[in-house]
Amino acid sequence: MNIVLIGYMGSGKSLIGNGLSEKLKFDYLDLDDYIEIQEKKSISKIFEEHGEIYFRKKESFYLKEILETDKNRVISLGGGTPCFANNLEIILANKNTTSIYLQTSLGELTERLYKEREKRPLIAHIETKIDLNDFIRKHLFERSFYYNQADNKIITDKKEMKEICKEITSLLF
Ligand code: S3P
Repeated sequence: MNIVLIGYMGSGKSLIGNGLSEKLKFDYLDLDDYIEIQEKKSISKIFEEHGEIYFRKKESFYLKEILETDKNRVISLGGGTPCFANNLEIILANKNTTSIYLQTSLGELTERLYKEREKRPLIAHIETKIDLNDFIRKHLFERSFYYNQADNKIITDKKEMKEICKEITSLLF
């Protein structure tokens, strides 16, 4: 079984994915890390050297590769993964896969991402918190159409990682 975590950048997919995999004794896989290992380059370098379209093609290719497994796995996707190509269709159609949308408010995303924006190519150029908030508001609005199609949704605001993992576990088992 695959438990796939989707959600906007900064929604805690990696942190929660790690915690959840430990709790459930599942393997853990982060799609961005997997892409970096396979491509032998950081995500930022891939964007810089080849552009976003190239990254999206690789992302889609590796997503398909990792979903074809018979292991029990928690998988954290990139924030854009379900919004490109036929990725969401493939996630939803896969019988062994349950998807969970980690929904985080605009305010929390802005606070978290403002501090960590340098390593995220889509927002690294944004200078002020107000501009970042504006960008996320519009972007999240567009992406919510995809995120909201996940099998389950968990609201992460003001919750500790452990509490979120507990909520996910009781939702699924
Ligand atoms: C992206 C999110 C990033 C990474 C890439 C593009 C996006 O992953 O895949 O920078 O389009 O939202 P995180 O959500 O883990 O930051």
